[in-house]
Amino acid sequence: MKKIKFTLISCVLALVVINMVILTVTAADEPPRNIGYGRGGRMQGGAVSERSKEPIQPIPVTFDYDTAKIELGKKLFFEPRLSKSGWITCNSCHNLSTGGVDNLPTSIGHKWLFGPINSPTVLNAKFNLAQFWDGRAKDLKEQAKGPIANPMEMASNHELAVDVLQSIPAYVQWFKEVYKEENITIDNVADAIAAFEETLTTPNSRFDWWLKDYDDKITDAEMEGYDLFKNKGCIICHNGFGVGGTSFQKFGVAKPYDKDTQTLGRYNVTKEEKDKYAFKVPLLRNIELTAPYFHDASTWSLSEAVKIMAEYQLGVTFNDNETDKIVAFLRTLTGDQPSILFPILPPSNENTPKPNRN
Ligand code: HEC
Ligand code: HEC
Repeated sequence: MKKIKFTLISCVLALVVINMVILTVTAADEPPRNIGYGRGGRMQGGAVSERSKEPIQPIPVTFDYDTAKIELGKKLFFEPRLSKSGWITCNSCHNLSTGGVDNLPTSIGHKWLFGPINSPTVLNAKFNLAQFWDGRAKDLKEQAKGPIANPMEMASNHELAVDVLQSIPAYVQWFKEVYKEENITIDNVADAIAAFEETLTTPNSRFDWWLKDYDDKITDAEMEGYDLFKNKGCIICHNGFGVGGTSFQKFGVAKPYDKDTQTLGRYNVTKEEKDKYAFKVPLLRNIELTAPYFHDASTWSLSEAVKIMAEYQLGVTFNDNETDKIVAFLRTLTGDQPSILFPILPPSNENTPKPNRN
């Protein structure tokens, strides 16, 4: 009797201790929830897992942001008056409700013009080695100046965009607070937008939990998909925090890609023959949200995209079972989407340049 009692007490004690350990670990991994913008940040400390040697790393979850700058950047990301028509925002084509893309083959810009290329997501864009399909902008700040003045996108120009903001006292005040400068500059506009974009990361995907040793977060089929992804060679190009974005690679390594021979990719930047048809390897984070796929939007189906990659990049053919498993793995890469509190923008006044839809 005594023995049974002792065993019981030991069991209960052991359970309490185990539970406390689990609670502490989970608490350390939980991101703050009530911030009203994205979640990205620096890697959190803690036990180093064997899985830290995997070629894909979990998206960091802690923060050390300049809140005032990010709030300003968020307003600008949703600011239609940065466009000539007063109607198009960054969010028009990088919709944060739909994975940071517009889910269109090519975007619709000023005067309903269709752009030449599929819009990539802004989510996790900070993990890209450079921005745009051809990498022509070195970072998010340099990138952000592009669309404002692109005639097929927002069709404004940098002077006009700054004039609009400068005419609105609330913006003048916010810029002064953040940049300690008398006047608004396009450089600071881009800097604030880039700071906001830095927060647009998507941690806590089921795969990231697996990377942190939570085995039951992914199924056997998904695991087999990951093994195929590594063993067949997808990982050579799609790796790192973003599961892509770490290199430029030719589209058509094993077999020339024939569906679009007009878009020259990286060649436009370097003018080197070897860079013809090379593109920045896209991030595969949240890939299930961002159809259609490829720079030319040649397919709406993720399975089809996987088969095209196998054929053109690796020179192999997958059976349906293998394709399904890889797709199942890719779906585990969907993380927490940024929780955005819709920004309220200050009104225009008689000094604000008027929208122009022509
Ligand atoms: C009319 C649609 C449209 C608007 C508006 C727009 N973009 Fe884009 N964005 C695109 C397209 C299309 C590309 C790809 C262009 C290319 O690679 O040549 C792109 C590329 C990007 C990229 C690079 C992502 C990557 O993976 O390379 C970022 C970041 C980005 N845009 C942010 C912004 C910001 C910030 C704004 C607002 C200032 C904005 N965009 C406005 C359509 C748009
Ligand atoms: C040699 C490098 C390389 C290999 C290997 C590779 N990819 Fe890709 N992947 C790319 C490039 C480059 C693109 C962009 C092509 C384009 O649209 O121009 C891409 C695009 C994709 C896309 C579409 C992304 C989007 O946002 O449109 C998916 C999905 C994808 N790859 C999955 C895979 C899978 C699964 C494998 C293994 C079967 C694989 N890739 C192997 C380089 C590679």
